[in-house]
Amino acid sequence: MKVTVVGAGAVGASCAEYIAMKNFCSEVVLVDIKEGFAEGKAMDLMQTASLNGFDTKISGSTADYSKTAGSDVAVITSGIPRKPGMTREELIGINAGIVKEVTENLVKHSPDVIIIVVSNPMDTMAYLVHKTSGLPKNKIIGMGGALDSARFKYRLAEALDAPISDVDGMVIAAHSDTGMLPLLSKATRNGVPVSEFLSEDQLSYVLEETKVGGATLTKLLGTSAWYAPGAAVSVMVQAIACDQKKMIPCSLMLDGEYGESDICLGVPAIIGKNGVEQIVEIPLTSEEKEKFQAAAKAVREVNGDLKF
Ligand code: NAI
Repeated sequence: MKVTVVGAGAVGASCAEYIAMKNFCSEVVLVDIKEGFAEGKAMDLMQTASLNGFDTKISGSTADYSKTAGSDVAVITSGIPRKPGMTREELIGINAGIVKEVTENLVKHSPDVIIIVVSNPMDTMAYLVHKTSGLPKNKIIGMGGALDSARFKYRLAEALDAPISDVDGMVIAAHSDTGMLPLLSKATRNGVPVSEFLSEDQLSYVLEETKVGGATLTKLLGTSAWYAPGAAVSVMVQAIACDQKKMIPCSLMLDGEYGESDICLGVPAIIGKNGVEQIVEIPLTSEEKEKFQAAAKAVREVNGDLKF
């Protein structure tokens, strides 16, 4: 399994590190536009191999896509991250051009690649990759729900004062502060609804903190987070590499599922060697359906700013 990660910045390097540490991939190629940067990150990571006990070969390239030829999976993390106070949507002007150019280069050298889109605004960037890559829709997967669900579980465990492994929960809809939909109705502690343990105030705290999870970190760090985003991508790459058929919420092109079409939004899906193997339609409450539709409307508006 050969994986390319475009963008050797905070998220790209973290994702390459987690992939290597889990030792399920033979090769990771890091690509960046900054001269020597990907080569440097790759060398630094390779010098952890004997310390951390992995055999994955990591190499770097300054935008030479011939080095990525024959990739099974490519992760797009290139672009600018937000600064404190910014929304993800404000990044579209710069990131759309970068994501389009990177996609064209990737597909030219790896026509059968599965692309995982990370750059923000992610749902719109995933839509852009669909419109410009020519790849079938099972091969384009946006990363948002895996991260947002991890943040939801973190907040649930905190409110419950329970170990994270006792907690389950999922976030769907848009990867944005306002369009994120943590499914409180389905969140559980060892199979028991969390509403059995938490007050209304605690539940709304969990909800709100989950939705602004990225913004909270951006304020603390001065830039957006990288450990959890990198780990979330590595889980998705592993599901493909090891054909796990794992259910992960991802931003996918919808064709009638959840009542929406021609839009990428976060929904649960089975991820395996073919990329998206099945979109899973779970029953939503009427309030959740309304929120899903509102998120779709907002994402459509952002998609309207794209130029192909
Ligand atoms: P960063 O600034 O640390 O790294 C981005 C890298 O992309 C830089 O090294 C830059 O040189 C490179 N780059 C820019 N243009 C390029 C091009 N044309 N070709 C190749 N490389 C290029 O940023 P960070 O923190 O790694 O974030 C990357 C993106 O991921 C941002 O758009 C951020 O908003 C997004 N993000 C998305 C998340 C999600 O859940 N979907 C979570 C966290 C970040």
